[in-house]
Amino acid sequence: MPKIGFIGAGPVGTAFAVNLAKRKYQIIGVFDVVPEAAQRFAADVPGCQVYKKAQALADAADILFITTPDDIIPKAAGAIKWRAGQSAVHCSGASTVHSLDAAREQGASVGAIHPCQTFAGREQAIANLPGSTFAIEAEEPMKTTLTGIARALDGDLVYLTSEDKALYHAAACIACNYFYTLVKIATDLWQNFGKTTEEATKAYIPLLQGSVNNIANIGFPGCLTGPIARGDVKTIQRHLAALAKCAPDILPLYKELGLQTIPIGIAKGTLSESKAEELRSLLQNKLK
Ligand SMILES: NC(=O)c1ccc[n+]([C@@H]2O[C@H](COP(=O)([O-])OP(=O)(O)OC[C@H]3O[C@@H](n4cnc5c(N)ncnc54)[C@H](OP(=O)(O)O)[C@@H]3O)[C@@H](O)[C@H]2O)c1
Repeated sequence: MPKIGFIGAGPVGTAFAVNLAKRKYQIIGVFDVVPEAAQRFAADVPGCQVYKKAQALADAADILFITTPDDIIPKAAGAIKWRAGQSAVHCSGASTVHSLDAAREQGASVGAIHPCQTFAGREQAIANLPGSTFAIEAEEPMKTTLTGIARALDGDLVYLTSEDKALYHAAACIACNYFYTLVKIATDLWQNFGKTTEEATKAYIPLLQGSVNNIANIGFPGCLTGPIARGDVKTIQRHLAALAKCAPDILPLYKELGLQTIPIGIAKGTLSESKAEELRSLLQNKLK
């Protein structure tokens, strides 16, 4: 069993280490510029030691995960003296394996394994990592090693090239980060009729859970409901009037999302081409 070390004791490193240790991987140590973070990490991972120097950990490890912020990965890799046969891994979705060029140039194998998951805190990260989809960018033998790790974590996997990474990560940002932004915009609108963000959030949680269930159980395009799926032109007109009055800055976003929703309604078969054309001209009108 290879000896695994972690440089960077944030939620992602911790989640990998805790879950891999439970699956009998050997996690030997951790180094972090914040000693308290390393100590907290080691306390959760049986057999894991806190290292005071990254190089000492690198010398002891066969596989070294660099789970620092993305911008630090090349610098952290460049600060280590690697040996042939050793492996360097990062978990960034947007950075490519070229962030680990310093390790590769010294004979190490390099790879990236990005969990397509959101980690807002330690405990939540530990709980959510298993069952995620893992995006792997690596050549053999790292590809096999990282595939084994993804499977051990009960995950699905996709293999990507360096060229794929930025678009892959932009898509994940749309699905996750900008989803939060949309929900925030929607909850803030409640203030216009005298309700709090908390009331709005409470109302939306079951709606959002139902929506996610519909995506999971019905999928696209069948999951789409609402006025565009039904071709309710007058309802969309009322939305536009209300937004123009109370939140005109939201109108361009509303219109653009509406336009992007029309093909889903058509694909579902509930939005006729003539109604779609009416909606298009309504939503394309003064897109600003
Ligand atoms: N968070 C997510 O939802 C998520 C999801 C998928 C993938 N990822 C990827 O996973 C990786 C880690 O993310 P994270 O959210 O766990 O990061 P993080 O919360 O920023 O934690 C990284 C840890 O590394 C420490 N660090 C910084 N520079 C260091 C160095 N030179 N040597 C050792 N430790 C250093 C940081 O200390 P300081 O606090 O002092 O900087 C921090 O304790 C990133 O590549 C990220 O893109 C994140």
